[in-house]
Amino acid sequence: LKLVVLISGGGSNLRALLEAAADPEYPARVVAIGADRDADGLVLGEEYGIPTFSVPFTAYESRDAWGEALIEEIRRWEPDLVVLSGLMRLVPASVVAAFSPFLLNTHPAYLPEFPGAHGVRDAIAAGVTQTGASLIVVDDSVDGGPIIAQERVPVLPGDTESTLHDRIKPVERRLLIQAVRDIATADLDLKELAAS
Ligand code: GRF
Repeated sequence: LKLVVLISGGGSNLRALLEAAADPEYPARVVAIGADRDADGLVLGEEYGIPTFSVPFTAYESRDAWGEALIEEIRRWEPDLVVLSGLMRLVPASVVAAFSPFLLNTHPAYLPEFPGAHGVRDAIAAGVTQTGASLIVVDDSVDGGPIIAQERVPVLPGDTESTLHDRIKPVERRLLIQAVRDIATADLDLKELAAS
């Protein structure tokens, strides 16, 4: 299974996927790494010998223009699956239409709880004792797409956004690596899930 992974930050989830894909038994590989900015995680491309691309959001006069450029760039790699793993940007409907349902997003909360760009911070602010990690099929909503997998993560007294996020990320990575494997082996049918 050929993956294109899009990031905005450090790409720790991407690194986990690259680690898993380094095992020749793993039925998926990352064929390109993309970002909407000069993301730190692009350096993983050099480290793992994988082509990278950047379609800087700020270089386009509209989200739609940015989306068109992003679609064109992603299509070059002919992926079977596009994974948003730390892309801190809402993709326009054109991107969803171009790749759905083979377009996944990792989210550091137990959706539908705490959607949006600050799921970890919002959980802390809400004073909940548990939050979670979720993997969804991206649709035109904000984090409202069909849930592929999710798991609860405890919030501990004294947690900061950073300590809680550090506890969530390993769960996100495990869910992502397992889901990609299931999709590659057809144990998970995204068309069925998205249609359900
Ligand atoms: C992850 O928790 C992801 O779900 C969220 O932002 C974080 C990105 O972390 N959207 P990293 O860039 O993979 O380290």
